[in-house]
Amino acid sequence: MTILVTGGTGFIGSHTVVELLEAGYDVVVFDNFYNSKACVVDRIKKITGKDFKFYEADMLDREALDKIFDENKIDAVIHFAGLKAVGESVKIPLRYYYNNIAGTIKLCESMSAHGCKRIVFSSSATVYGEPDHVPMQEDFPITHATNPYGETKILIERILKDLSVSDPEWSVCCLRYFNPVGAHKSGLIGEDPMGIPNNIMPRIQKVATGEWDSITVFGTDYDTPDGTCIRDYIHVTDLAQAHIAALKRAANVVGWETYNIGCGRGYSVLDIINAYERVCGHPIKREICPRRAGDIAVSYADPTRAREVLGWQAKRTIDDMCRDSYNFRIKNPKGYED
Ligand code: WQD
Repeated sequence: MTILVTGGTGFIGSHTVVELLEAGYDVVVFDNFYNSKACVVDRIKKITGKDFKFYEADMLDREALDKIFDENKIDAVIHFAGLKAVGESVKIPLRYYYNNIAGTIKLCESMSAHGCKRIVFSSSATVYGEPDHVPMQEDFPITHATNPYGETKILIERILKDLSVSDPEWSVCCLRYFNPVGAHKSGLIGEDPMGIPNNIMPRIQKVATGEWDSITVFGTDYDTPDGTCIRDYIHVTDLAQAHIAALKRAANVVGWETYNIGCGRGYSVLDIINAYERVCGHPIKREICPRRAGDIAVSYADPTRAREVLGWQAKRTIDDMCRDSYNFRIKNPKGYED
C-alpha cells in the first residue's frame, strides 16, 4: 500500500513516516516547510534505511496536489498539514481558518478526483473545549474549542463527516491527540518548534540544557492534587503507531470514526518537571507564575475505543518521554540546522 503523508516533515508527521516505512508501507510525503526543516527528509531515511518520494508542496496548491496523485497511486492519506499554534491562531484567525480548512477541502477534492477515499486525520483533544468531567470520551458533545486552531479541528472533523455521508465509499478516521511529547529513540528526529516554544516539554528542554535559567509554572492554584494543571502526555512514537492501527482499520471499514489517542492518565506540570530531573540528572529551577489564559485544569483521555477497536494502546512511560526529549536536544542543541 502507498500512503501519502501531508505535513510529513513535521514533529508528528516525521515520526509517523518512520513507523510507516518500518511497517513496510510505501510512502509519499509532501510538506511546505512552514514549520519544519528539509533535513528531516534525510534523517528519516537514515533512521529507516528506506527511501520515499518527497514533494515540497502546499496543500492550498491544487495543481501540486493533483500532480502528486497523478504521479503516484495513493491508497490512503494521513493528513497532518496545517497551522497548529494555539496562541498564534488567536492573533491571525483568518489565516488559520483559510489554511487549515481550505487546504483540507482541496486535499479531499484531489483525493476524490483520483479515486482515493481513505483518510486518517490529525485531530486534537482541543475539540472537547472545557468538558465538565474527565476522562474525555469520543461521544462527549463537541461544541466549541477555546481557540481558532481548535475550531479548525472541529470544523474539519465535521466536513469529513459530511463527506463520508455524501459518499459512502469514504473511510474517515479522526485521531484526537492529547499532548504529544518526546522524540524518536535515535535522537535524529524530535520536536523542534520555531521561535520561542509554547508547549511545556520543549521549554523544559531549554532549561535542562542550560539555555534557559528556569521553567515557568503557570499556576499552582488549580483544583488538582499539587495545584498545577494535569495533562495526558503521550510519546510521539506511541502516537505515530496509532496511525498504523488506524490505517489498518480504514482499509477494512468505511464511514466516519474518531478515537482518543492518549495514555488514559494525567500528569501534572510538577510531575513532568520532576520526571525530567530524573532523566537529565540535575535540578530544574522553577519559577511560579500566574495561570496562563485559556488553560483548563485537567485533561486526559479515555482511550478504551482505540484499545478495543484499533487494538492500540500507549506503551511508553513519562520517563521514556522525557529521556527521549532530552536525548534529542542533547544531540541537536540548536534543533534542526538546515
Ligand atoms: C501543558 C501544561 C500549561 C508551559 C497544547 C494545545 C493542544 C495540543 C497540545 C495541538 C499547561 C503548562 C506550559 C510552561 C507551564 N496541540 N505549562 N509552563 O496547552 O495542554 O496543549 O498543546 O493539538 O491543542 O492546546 O500543552 O504543553 O502548552 O501546556 O506550566 O512554560 O503545561 O499551563 O497546563 P496544552 P502545553
